[in-house]
Amino acid sequence: MALRVAILLSGRGSNAQALLDDCAAGGHAQVVRVISNRPGALGLKRAEAAGVPAAVVDHRAFPDRAAFEAALHGALTACGAELVCLAGFMRLLTAPFVEAWHDRLINIHPSLLPAFPGLDTHARALAEGVRFHGCTVHFVRAAMDAGPIIGQAAVPVHPSDDADSLAERVLAAEHRLYPWAVRAIAAGRVTVRDERAVIEGWGPPAGPWLNPAQ
Ligand code: GRF
Repeated sequence: MALRVAILLSGRGSNAQALLDDCAAGGHAQVVRVISNRPGALGLKRAEAAGVPAAVVDHRAFPDRAAFEAALHGALTACGAELVCLAGFMRLLTAPFVEAWHDRLINIHPSLLPAFPGLDTHARALAEGVRFHGCTVHFVRAAMDAGPIIGQAAVPVHPSDDADSLAERVLAAEHRLYPWAVRAIAAGRVTVRDERAVIEGWGPPAGPWLNPAQ
């Protein structure tokens, strides 16, 4: 039985696209709903193009975060989601929501966590002069950009990089890492023990992860 996956996003949805494509190709998981908190999000159109029902839960329509998250929770349970993937979802989720989806809620973040949580990760990585940067897929906990790490992909930082060129290189890695992580979860290979994600019997994604072709 394919794992029932829901995707939450706020914008462009390129990671959602990578998940939609990989789930359609692999059959290991089925994206059953794409939900955006922003009505105009490009990610909604991507869902429609893929034949996946899309929905808007607009945070501005609710009096407070609790009401917004209750609506989100309702939409997710209504579609029978077993795994929720945050993919550029730009709202902080509070502890009650996160706990309700404990170990069933994952996120992709554009840095090698725990380095550079929060926003503007690429500019901050450049400012620090790090030699490697990348992305992380992790289970979500109440603290921002924290939680057991499922997988990471590293990319080199070049002296000529600006935030845009670095973001582009990281994004290409995101599009490979996130589908890999969902496949591992769908295969039942990921468990959380003592707040560490343990992956057993599941190889690394194919292809080079350091110094990828430029
Ligand atoms: C990605 O960089 C992701 O890591 C971060 O938000 C961005 C979303 O991009 N959480 P997209 O909407 O998937 O294109």
